[in-house]
Amino acid sequence: MEIVESVRAMQAAARKWRAQGRRIGFVPTMGNLHEGHLALVRLAKQRADVVVTSIFVNPTQFGPNEDFAAYPRTFEADRALCEREGVDVVFHPSVAEMYPAGASVAVTENALSRTLCGAARPGHFDGVCTIVAKLFNVVQPHVAVFGEKDAQQLRVIRRMVRDLRFPVEIVAGPTVREADGLALSSRNQYLTPAQRPQAVCLRRALDEAERLFAAGERDPKNLVRAMRAIVTAQPDARIDYMEIVDDETLQPLGGPIGRPALAALAVWVGKPRLIDNTVLVP
Ligand code: PAF
Repeated sequence: MEIVESVRAMQAAARKWRAQGRRIGFVPTMGNLHEGHLALVRLAKQRADVVVTSIFVNPTQFGPNEDFAAYPRTFEADRALCEREGVDVVFHPSVAEMYPAGASVAVTENALSRTLCGAARPGHFDGVCTIVAKLFNVVQPHVAVFGEKDAQQLRVIRRMVRDLRFPVEIVAGPTVREADGLALSSRNQYLTPAQRPQAVCLRRALDEAERLFAAGERDPKNLVRAMRAIVTAQPDARIDYMEIVDDETLQPLGGPIGRPALAALAVWVGKPRLIDNTVLVP
């Protein structure tokens, strides 16, 4: 496995692979890798001849009150996991390499990023789009894999690929869960032993929404009410948002669910803010 730090060297490798007719798979990450990321790598390996994983903590997707400097950087452990999974290249650029001095061009998304996580994090998805667009230009993948846990990010990236005409196939990787249903996340490490069992309330709330939906409930208000009751029963849980939105536009539903809807929630359980989601298909 090779570690590549410069844009020039990564583009040269991509050019060489393409000239050889090899299909490039790509898994962008910010490092601090866990089984959820590794599942995305395995998916990329199934769909490509060579796999690149990027490890880059992207400053432009952090808000002024979000601690970019404190984001966990665990490169040596990440490198070992990538090696074990058979990644071909880890692309690990510096901030200056991805954002050259005086950089003044960025990507803006004006619709899907206004609700859910984006409502409280203005500019976050513009930062995600900007770095993913740059990474696509550097890694030149045929296929890129993103996790379903970050449902809004996945939809925003798909929209960017469609609108900016990137020749990249986007594949969604199913959420990987602990045995009790908690979605894997780098943030789970910040749960205290007392908070850890409470954190499963996100998945339990979604299970209840799915159960009621399967039984015929179509009113988003009733579904959210039932979800809310499950989360608020946990002493350390504080809801950021809990919504059922149109799965395509991510806008709130005006009435009963008549087309695919995304049930999504973000909840602080003590210090970490956790997210999860499910799609309800009538
Ligand atoms: O999901 C992430 O880890 C990041 O948002 C991504 C896609 C790597 C962009 O920095």
